[in-house]
Amino acid sequence: METLVWSEKFSVHIEEIDNQHKKLFDLYNRVHLFAEDEHDKKRTLKSLMDYASFHFADEEKMMFSVGYPEPEFQRHKKQHKLFVERIVQLQSEPLWTMLDYFREWLLLHVLAEDTKIGRFLEGRGASALN
Ligand SMILES: [Fe+2]
Ligand SMILES: [Fe+2]
Repeated sequence: METLVWSEKFSVHIEEIDNQHKKLFDLYNRVHLFAEDEHDKKRTLKSLMDYASFHFADEEKMMFSVGYPEPEFQRHKKQHKLFVERIVQLQSEPLWTMLDYFREWLLLHVLAEDTKIGRFLEGRGASALN
């Protein structure tokens, strides 16, 4: 089972979002670590999903506040929503099925979608953050 290791290639060049992604990676790895114990598994899984929801909401708030282009913003938001729905569905599957999906989706999403937020801000100049 693979764990998640953050590296510079995952940077979206926005410190706050990078820090949240690092924390998500960390919480994901904790689920692995405690997967053998039923109680700890539930607890770590809940922390991971709670934090994922917080992160998505925060990222969406940031995109909105910097005037992220509307169709892209809606598409990105929808990806977050579909992911959460899929994870809920996968809770009736073996834990590893869910974790595999979580890991694959997160890596791809950060690289393909979240990095666009940083590029958008770079294009507008850093002042767009204030
Ligand atoms: Fe995102
Ligand atoms: Fe993100």
